[in-house]
Amino acid sequence: MDRVKHFKRKFFLLLIAVFILIIIERTPRIYRLITQIHGSTNTCPFQTSNQSITPLENTKHFLVSAYMDQRVKGFDIRIIGIFRRDSIQTLYCLFCCAGHLSTTTPAAVLVHSDHFGFPFGTTDIMCKIPTHCNAVSHVTLLTQPNGVEVSNHTWLLIRNKKTDGKEKKTFQFDFTVCISTLFGEYNNVLQFAQTLEMYRLLGVGRVVIYNTSAGPELNRLLHSYSQERYVEMVEWPIDKYLNASHGWLFSKHGGDLHYYGQLVTLNDCIYRSMDRSLYVLLNDIDEIIMPYQHDNLKSMMNMLQQQHPNTGAFLIQVHVFPKKTLLSTSENKNSPLPRWDGVPGFNILDRIYREGRDKNINHPPKMIIQPRFVQQTSVHNVLIMSGQKFKVPMKVCGVIHCRISTLKQRPLEELHVDTRLWDFKNKLIPRVNEILRRVELMSSEEEKENRLNNI
Ligand SMILES: *[C@@H]1O[C@H](CO)[C@@H](O)[C@H](O)[C@H]1NC(C)=O
Ligand SMILES: *[C@@H]1O[C@H](CO)[C@@H](O)[C@H](O)[C@H]1NC(C)=O
Ligand SMILES: *[C@@H]1O[C@H](CO)[C@@H](O)[C@H](O)[C@H]1NC(C)=O
Ligand SMILES: *[C@@H]1O[C@H](CO)[C@@H](O)[C@H](O)[C@H]1NC(C)=O
Repeated sequence: MDRVKHFKRKFFLLLIAVFILIIIERTPRIYRLITQIHGSTNTCPFQTSNQSITPLENTKHFLVSAYMDQRVKGFDIRIIGIFRRDSIQTLYCLFCCAGHLSTTTPAAVLVHSDHFGFPFGTTDIMCKIPTHCNAVSHVTLLTQPNGVEVSNHTWLLIRNKKTDGKEKKTFQFDFTVCISTLFGEYNNVLQFAQTLEMYRLLGVGRVVIYNTSAGPELNRLLHSYSQERYVEMVEWPIDKYLNASHGWLFSKHGGDLHYYGQLVTLNDCIYRSMDRSLYVLLNDIDEIIMPYQHDNLKSMMNMLQQQHPNTGAFLIQVHVFPKKTLLSTSENKNSPLPRWDGVPGFNILDRIYREGRDKNINHPPKMIIQPRFVQQTSVHNVLIMSGQKFKVPMKVCGVIHCRISTLKQRPLEELHVDTRLWDFKNKLIPRVNEILRRVELMSSEEEKENRLNNI
């Protein structure tokens, strides 16, 4: 009896001893782990930017985004920025590799040639990842190669990292439309809904919109579209940082940066789409890149790409469809098409007159590009690319530009009737009704009436 008790006590003491040993063994490891996360200055990133415009510490510049890009020999990363052109200094790239700081490498700062004289311009900063950097995740720029306190620095997440080395053959989207900078409380809801649905009918899978500000009803519409992930909203609070110009030429319009930063957003959009979209369309929201011989963009591009292999940029001619349709108001009232009277904005189905092209005026084109061919872009032309450019004939494709303001009223004989948009109306009208009802800009009675009118 006693022996059993004794044995039990011994066993109990042994158990406690083992327990204590385990705890002692473990503690330093846990302690080490904690100091690694919180204490050591060799860990990163401290803070990652969650904004699309990030001021760069100790400079007058701003960073927008960072992408893996190994198309230029000697470089691995392209950072897109907005740099003050008169204050460019030598910069160094610092990386975060598996949670540890790398050594720095010199950066190459490339200001885009299209800056139109503004003090700030779209800028690419090219970086090389140093050897011994595995699992690179973030990057930032320093003004000195070393000895800089980096605990304050904001890091950019590096995007477009290839998970395997193979060239991708399939893409999430065939077509992405990049809409640069929505600003000035723009509230043209009807035009927006019609245009976005029109893009979808033509085969567009994603519309990226850079948003500085939008009107209340338009915000509702766009929130609904971004919930279904057709539209991707990128916040673009450029007015918080710069006196962005509403014009395109510094000598004429003044300000810090060309047209609300349009060129920066278009370049960012191309890199954002690089790994996920076969083609990118660079046009404004009041424009529709319209195939005239095909039902959709895909069959048109299949033909064009076959006829013009190794072509990275397809230039599409722009045609203005002015505001004044010159239809008399009674004709307008008797139109068989729905009016959507209570919805803010204009009706693109009214735009059936196309202006002739004045040979004395330069008509800059819009573009369909293959993003993987492009390094730097402007609005109407690509600045640095591989492959060819091709000017698409008007009979194949043209931009329907539903201009908001008319510069000069043209006489009727200079206008051509072009009802191409009406070819899509039977599909377009129900879709527009549906989205307007979803965001409560149209009642079901109005929808019914529209449907009846449309029969
Ligand atoms: C970014 O992070 C800050 C705080 O860390 C937060 O307040 C803010 O809402 C975030 N912004 C976005 C666009 O996610
Ligand atoms: C860190 O940031 C704070 C405030 O932004 C600034 O006052 C301080 O000088 C910075 N420290 C270093 C070492 O750059
Ligand atoms: C557009 O930006 C404004 C200003 O930041 C914001 O209030 C609004 O919610 C944004 N709209 C959408 C649809 O994201
Ligand atoms: C912003 O630029 C405009 C010209 O576009 C100029 O008239 C105005 O004074 C500038 N404002 C500031 C705060 O610099």
